[in-house]
Amino acid sequence: MQEEIIRKINDFKKQRNAVILVHNYQKQEIQEIADFIGDSLGLSREAANTNADVIVFCGVHFMAETALILNPNKKVLLPDLSSGCPMADMITEEQLIQFKKENPQATVVTYINSTAEVKAETDICCTSSNAINIVKSIKNDKIIFCPDRNLGSYVQKVLNKKLILWNGYCPTHMRILPEYVIKQKKKHPNALFLAHPECQPATVDLADEVLSTTGILNYVAKSDKDEFIIGTENEITFMLQRKYPNKKFYTVTDLAVCPNMKKNSLEKVLYVLQEMKNEIKVRKDIASKAIIPIQRMLKIR
Ligand code: 13P
Ligand code: SF4
Repeated sequence: MQEEIIRKINDFKKQRNAVILVHNYQKQEIQEIADFIGDSLGLSREAANTNADVIVFCGVHFMAETALILNPNKKVLLPDLSSGCPMADMITEEQLIQFKKENPQATVVTYINSTAEVKAETDICCTSSNAINIVKSIKNDKIIFCPDRNLGSYVQKVLNKKLILWNGYCPTHMRILPEYVIKQKKKHPNALFLAHPECQPATVDLADEVLSTTGILNYVAKSDKDEFIIGTENEITFMLQRKYPNKKFYTVTDLAVCPNMKKNSLEKVLYVLQEMKNEIKVRKDIASKAIIPIQRMLKIR
């Protein structure tokens, strides 16, 4: 049954000249049909460079929207249109406009986990893997950072620079509590703790390394350590355990699951490819403004 679905997905992929982009948090069976798997920055770069006519985005809504903004002439399909990111919805265009009024002359740095409308009101975007370099590149002392207060706090701490933070957060990463980490560290004293910067500051403070999802995967690939506690969505831990069966990987809590990332299925991928349904749309005037901060970000390594 599964083999049959995969065979059909591959046939339609050829017919449509489609590419399947997959975020690191997607389930194993989706990762297995990927043309490219990555973090938000890697996926944006891949989307910016693809020659395909159709992009099937296996991730959440803002990621597919970013791919479309970078490729206004392609079709971008999201297998489940209800796969949103609650953090991206924690700031609206109107709220950002008001926040800018309250903080005149500030440069606006917006995490890629945001809507196209919010990006359109932004000076430069960032992801979890380049946020420090992006903020470092800004000369202005007044910087608004939205929507993730946790990523913002981390950047603030590393650069010793005060940022004007919006009060958004990721509910999944907020469930990775420092007390759970301490418990795991006691149980596995030789394990390194690798955390995503969307975790709350008290959790990030316990980390040996703070990294994006792909950053965590790359760190383990190069490390000669044998045990790791992984502080991000639990798919990364399962991916690592499959890839390195002789090493040990521990989640912090069973609660670190992103329900939106898990809405996807092989059946839904086949459905959108076959029927060309669930096309992402962004208003032209919004897209033409939102592409500017994304492209500024992509120019910075
Ligand atoms: P990465 O860019 O590190 O993959 O993060 C995306 C995300 O949504 C994490 O919750
Ligand atoms: Fe959004 Fe958090 Fe899910 Fe990432 S893990 S997509 S930030 S809800």
